[in-house]
Formats: sequence, structure tokens, C-alpha cells
Amino acid sequence: MSTFLVTRTLPEDATEAALRADVLHGLTRTPKTLPPKWFYDAHGSELFEKITELPEYYPTRAEREILLARAAEIASATGARTLVELGSGSSDKTRHLLDALPALHTYVPVDVSESALTQAGQALIAERPSLAVHALIADFTGGLTLPGTPGPRLVAFLGGTIGNLLPAERATFLASVRALLSPGDALLLGTDLVKDESVLVDAYDDAAGVTAAFNKNVLSVVNRELGADFDPDDFAHVALWDAEEEWIEMRLRARSRLTVKIPALDLAVDFAAGEELRTEVSAKFREEGVRGEMAAAGLEMTHWWTDQEGRFALSLSMAR
Ligand SMILES: C[S@@+](CC[C@H](N)C(=O)[O-])C[C@H]1O[C@@H](n2cnc3c(N)ncnc32)[C@H](O)[C@@H]1O
Repeated sequence: MSTFLVTRTLPEDATEAALRADVLHGLTRTPKTLPPKWFYDAHGSELFEKITELPEYYPTRAEREILLARAAEIASATGARTLVELGSGSSDKTRHLLDALPALHTYVPVDVSESALTQAGQALIAERPSLAVHALIADFTGGLTLPGTPGPRLVAFLGGTIGNLLPAERATFLASVRALLSPGDALLLGTDLVKDESVLVDAYDDAAGVTAAFNKNVLSVVNRELGADFDPDDFAHVALWDAEEEWIEMRLRARSRLTVKIPALDLAVDFAAGEELRTEVSAKFREEGVRGEMAAAGLEMTHWWTDQEGRFALSLSMAR
């Protein structure tokens, strides 16, 4: 019989304290920044799902193509009995993996978005009567404690979400993932690849304006949670390619000089006309870079698969 358990690893007031700290730190420095995890309230998670269906947003389709082609190989290379998924969102593509893992005992989706976790978990157990789902509402950068489920463990981190971490944060994060693994466990990582600038920029600046709404949603989250008075219409959505860092940046550009009040922090934040707030980086990768980052974290990359057009990669790395 299927089971569905949800564990909140942080009390709700810790989430609010983390948001306050990030907003205070990010909006009182130059240049201003906010971490991308705050996009994902229930509305932000819905907007992200819409992004995955946009004609310009190729990563989801490309990663699905690889998963469909390689799921059986992933299953035989790992023999996974527990699948942990970081930043699982809707768990939609994950179904291809769940279908292919014959020995699977428990699926552990991990996400900051409670609404996404609950919806995905309920749908999965309705579809798969023998699956146990133990969802964790948690920040995957915050030192995870996993439930004591049987190994081997496969940790999946899909969607190119690893690109949202800056290089130093990535190294710390990958070391923390390695610490969750025992010899014979594996990490399945989705990475978007360096490619033509116009393809990349269009993927983050779609014609229908869904990504712009997603970007501005972080302002609504700060308004609701901290009583701020951001008017999202005062800001323009900006996506640009940094060729040196090989990452896309999403920013919000103030259309005029303005001041935002944030009562919960007793703070007034001035924006000059044209001043930009960075809301996300999305790093793009190359095979040798990923192999090197895995090795630095104590993982051996054993497989590298791309979609037919070479836009996106899935890699499998083993803990020895
Ligand atoms: C780019 S979406 C990818 C969703 C899904 N894995 C996919 O491939 O379509 C990123 C997901 O990670 C979650 N997320 C972002 N930052 C997080 C964090 N620090 N800890 C846990 N989840 C996070 C978001 O809520 C969202 O569901």
C-alpha cells in the first residue's frame, strides 16, 4: 500500500527569519540581490510550471528526452532503492525515473515549496499504489537529514537548478550532497549547457511574459511576508548573458527613482532610476567543468548524456 508522509525540517518562523535576513542583506548592498529560492511560493511554483511549457524554454523538453532515453541505464547502473530528489517541484519528469527503477522502495522529494510537494506527492501515490513517498519541506543548501530508507540511494538534482548556485556555493553544496552518500550511491545531475546567446536569453525572456511575471513574483512574496510596498509594475524584467561567467542573470530594473518601505524590517530602500536588483543567476556548463566539480566533491562522473541537439546534459556520478 502507498504511503505519503510530509516532514517540515525547519519551523515556519525559521523560514520567515531566513527571508528577513536575505532581504535585509540583499537590499542594503550594492548591487542589490535576492536569492532565487524566494520565487517559489504557490503562485511562483505554478508560474515555473508554465515556463516549462513555453516554446522558448527548451531545458525541460531536452532533459525529458534524455531521461526517457536513459532511464533504464540509470536504473541498472544504480540499482536505487531510494530516490531522493532535490528541488523536485512538480516531480513531473521524475515519473520517467520512477517507472524505470524496479527495486525502488521510497521516493524522497525535497523542496522549499510546500504546495508543489503536496500536489506532486498526492498525485504520485494515487498513480502508484506501491510507492512510499516521504516528502521533505527543506532548503537543500541547509544541511539535509534524510530519512533512514534502504540503499542504494540515488540523489537526483534535475532542471539545471544547480546553476542557480554561485561557484563557491556549488562546491559547498556538492560536498554536502557527497556527505549524504555511501559508497555505491549516486548523484544524477541535470545541467544546462553553454550555447548560442540568443537561444539562452530567449529562454529567460519569453514573448508571452511568463518569465517576467515569475521574476516579479519575488516582489509580491516580500510584500506579503514582510509588508513591503513594491509595485511590480515599477520594475522591468531583464535577462542577460554574462559571457565571462557563462551564466544568465535575471534582474529587475527600476523604471524610475523610487523608495520601497519594508515595515517588518523597519527599512526604506532607495532605487535609482535604472538600478537593477539581481534575482537569479543560471550558470551554463561544459562536460569537463562538471567532471572537475564532481571530482572536487569526491564523486566520480561515470556517465554523460546529452539530448540529440546537445543543449542539455544529464550526468551520473558515483560515490566510491
Ligand atoms: C528550476 S525549478 C526545477 C523544478 C524541477 N526539478 C524541474 O526540473 O522542473 C527549481 C525547484 O527547486 C526548488 N528550490 C529552489 N531553491 C531551493 C532550495 N534552496 N531548497 C529547496 N528547494 C529549492 C523550487 O521550489 C523549485 O521547485
